[in-house]
Amino acid sequence: MSGYSAPHCGALRAKDVGREVELFGWVARRRDHGGLIFIDLRDRWGAVQVMFNPANAPQAHAAASDLRSEYVVRVKGAVGHRPAGSENPRMPTGEVEVTASELEVVNTSETTPFPIEDLEEPDEKTRLEYRYLDLRRPRMTQMLELRSRANKIIRDFMDGNEFIEVETPILTRSSPSGARDFLVPSRLHPGSFYALPQAPQMLKQLLMVSGVQRYYQIARCFRDENLRADRQPEFTQLDVEMSFCDEEDVFGLIEALFSKLWRDILGVELATPFPRLDIKESLLRFGTDKPDLRHDLEIADLGQVLAGTKAQIFRGALDAGGVVRGMRVPGGRDMPRRDLDDLVTMAKGAGGKGMAWLPGSTIDKFLSEAEIAGIRHATGAEDGDLVLLVADRKRKAETVMGLIRQEVARRRKLIRQDQWKFLWINPTYLFEEDDQGKLTYAHHPFTRPFEEDMTFVEERPYDVRAHAYDIVCNGYELGGGSLRIYDPAMQERVFQLLGMPLETIRARFGTLLQAFTYGVPPHGGIAPGIDRIVMMLGGTDNIRDVVAFPKTQSMSDLMLGAPSEVDGAQLEELHIQVVPPKKPT
Ligand code: AMO
Repeated sequence: MSGYSAPHCGALRAKDVGREVELFGWVARRRDHGGLIFIDLRDRWGAVQVMFNPANAPQAHAAASDLRSEYVVRVKGAVGHRPAGSENPRMPTGEVEVTASELEVVNTSETTPFPIEDLEEPDEKTRLEYRYLDLRRPRMTQMLELRSRANKIIRDFMDGNEFIEVETPILTRSSPSGARDFLVPSRLHPGSFYALPQAPQMLKQLLMVSGVQRYYQIARCFRDENLRADRQPEFTQLDVEMSFCDEEDVFGLIEALFSKLWRDILGVELATPFPRLDIKESLLRFGTDKPDLRHDLEIADLGQVLAGTKAQIFRGALDAGGVVRGMRVPGGRDMPRRDLDDLVTMAKGAGGKGMAWLPGSTIDKFLSEAEIAGIRHATGAEDGDLVLLVADRKRKAETVMGLIRQEVARRRKLIRQDQWKFLWINPTYLFEEDDQGKLTYAHHPFTRPFEEDMTFVEERPYDVRAHAYDIVCNGYELGGGSLRIYDPAMQERVFQLLGMPLETIRARFGTLLQAFTYGVPPHGGIAPGIDRIVMMLGGTDNIRDVVAFPKTQSMSDLMLGAPSEVDGAQLEELHIQVVPPKKPT
């Protein structure tokens, strides 16, 4: 049997009328219409209606009465127009049907755990357990095709700009990226481990020392971190690095690439250049480093207005060095109490102290008239508007306000769904505070600081700007990157400021520092996340929809049953002993 070069079921159109065809595919539906039997025959390209008439093909018709959904069949027949009035405008093949002369059942199928043809989504656990069937659903087949197209456009684009694709190892050594490593024990080196790459960061920089000048890779990355709707433990980056570049070169390249993807796949023209927003401004006005600009809600700082306030919740926060932030909700006085309570619960869930509002919550009476007028002025509130207020440590207040901003926009349907709001977050800052209040790197330790800011790094480290950037679209961080330090002395200085002991620096980054002594070009790069790009293009907010074989929230592969125990001999060979957790995790 060779159906490989047969016509595609889903590709037949009116221009094929009169053709004799041999088709291969799966039975999507079967309908018995008193004598005539109809099936929809599906392949990767779509489905076409096939008719079995007992009058002209009694054998095929008899065999067709035994067909069930998902049987694999071979059909021979003639393509014809559907009778006038019975065309199906919802099917791309809806003008035609195939009148069968021959039918062969190539394979039967058990009843599938969920109907392949239903438009309603089966529950996700079952989908993931039977992923090979889930991918047979037309929506998922289209996602696979979309991802493949995006990859091809990306490869062609990078190639057209003289980038070369270099593969870097998966078995490598730990490099800092902020997440936990996945480790692989070494059989030949007892007690030693490879780490799976969180990103090929050091290697791409080393390739610049090698003189590659323009590198890219569709690179698998592995990070053991808490999963969210837009995170997988293994994901794919378009990893890019270039020599002798500045920010404008990176922005220009990436804007052209996104424009091409959006044009070729969605037929959408993106406006370039993308706007740029300083990270501090983004955190203040939108409460996040990845703002969704499809709606106009904005956060205001109320520190000045409330500088002399006696209202305890605000006084307490300001005296402790914290902030008070407020946001106007246009027409928000009609917000149901239930919605406000939900927002308070959300604020607390994010570790915040809560949320107040004006007018209406009990704080009104603790504020002077001038303060209330000041709040209204600072937030732009008018009659009928509500102002939501949060007082906390700066970072916490920003995070909580950012969540509230987005949730209010969602509930009040303020998000303009037809828009693509791309922007660059740039510049960013070199350092940030970690959860313990300690200084840490904001992006990674190779990021180039603004040289002029290094003069005050000791006094005001958090004000040192960095040549780093994130590309954001509709509230998603689609990629991040930076220009890199290429002066070994500067690199060592940054490591020291991060409080890294010399031995750690030598052990972890010695190779890079040494390489930098052999003629390193100035360089920089970026890594857009391909999974997230395809999510955007595919109109889904679930990253698992665009990964063929994804992991669940608890990092399991429900189809293959990974992770799994391994047998004792394997562990012994790897010099590994398992110490079971004391308490169940
Ligand atoms: P960064 O850590 O910002 O930068 O990652 C770049 C992009 O990768 C995607 N991404 C993810 N996608 C899905 N699941 C995840 N768990 C996940 N983590 C990250 C995001 C993100 O914007 N080496 C640097 C880049 C550089 O400096 O050139 C890096 O990895 O889209």
